[in-house]
Amino acid sequence: MWDFPLFPSQASTNAAKLDALMLFELGVVVFFTLLILVLVLGFAVRFRRGNPVDRSHPPTHSQAMEVVWIAVPMALSLLMYGWSTRLFFDMYAAPADAAQVDVVGKQWMWYLQHPQGRSETNELHVPLGRPVKLNMTSQDVIHSFFIPAFRIKQDVLPGRYTSLWFEPTKAGVFDLFCAEYCGTNHSIMIGKVHVMEPADYEAWLSEKGVGPSQAEEGERLFVQHHCAGCHRGSQTVHAPKLEGVYGKPVPIQDGENVRFVTADDRYIRDSILIPKGEVVAGYEPIMPSFKDQIGEADLLKIIAYIKSIANRETSQ
Ligand code: CUA
Repeated sequence: MWDFPLFPSQASTNAAKLDALMLFELGVVVFFTLLILVLVLGFAVRFRRGNPVDRSHPPTHSQAMEVVWIAVPMALSLLMYGWSTRLFFDMYAAPADAAQVDVVGKQWMWYLQHPQGRSETNELHVPLGRPVKLNMTSQDVIHSFFIPAFRIKQDVLPGRYTSLWFEPTKAGVFDLFCAEYCGTNHSIMIGKVHVMEPADYEAWLSEKGVGPSQAEEGERLFVQHHCAGCHRGSQTVHAPKLEGVYGKPVPIQDGENVRFVTADDRYIRDSILIPKGEVVAGYEPIMPSFKDQIGEADLLKIIAYIKSIANRETSQ
């Protein structure tokens, strides 16, 4: 049959809220467009040349009219501003209990990594009714992660982490797009989001056997790249221990001064790739850079490992 939906289905908690705002703004635009069009046409016809209408005493000003044309648009603009700002914050601040899925875009595919260990390309499996936060970066150029049914879209940038979150409200399969022209095969950088019942999702996670978790994979890489040699109990090389660091303020030597930065994903990634950029106070800038040696997906695993030891006591 005739299947040409103007709106994709509303499949996340924020979808209906965003559509309501969009329809309200569209309504305001349509109302004023029609109002002005009708007045322009009406006056043009009524005051056309040769039409015998009263043209004496044209009004020069009307205070009531001025008040109306200032107050009404101002009230409408402030309403739209307040409404959309509120919604923007709701749509970008993920709930604290959201499950994190890491996303790496690269020409021309999406790589998605679940914390439990399973990873996938161009497919994203998520549980119904639970908030999911996407932590995203790019291996090469700018991409854009877009799920129309969830009404979410966010640029995915090289050298930076951006995030999105959603809570699916409908089980089913939804489209996933790259919405930023990123080269020859941009158009095939698409995929499917599978929203599953929570029990099915749990089964899916362990379908291929229970492998190492993302953090365990990260620990393996941590040893493989010889990070552990210095950052874990070595007596010969003086390097900061990483237990309990994640999420805490870290003192950084900044010329003569010491400033504090939070040890978040961004800080850990930069410390691996640009180790001399932010050196922890009291340590020598001796760590080599791992730029071009560790890909974005592996960096995310190492970060997951460092996050997993956030509550562990420092060994020294
Ligand atoms: Cu990636 Cu377009």
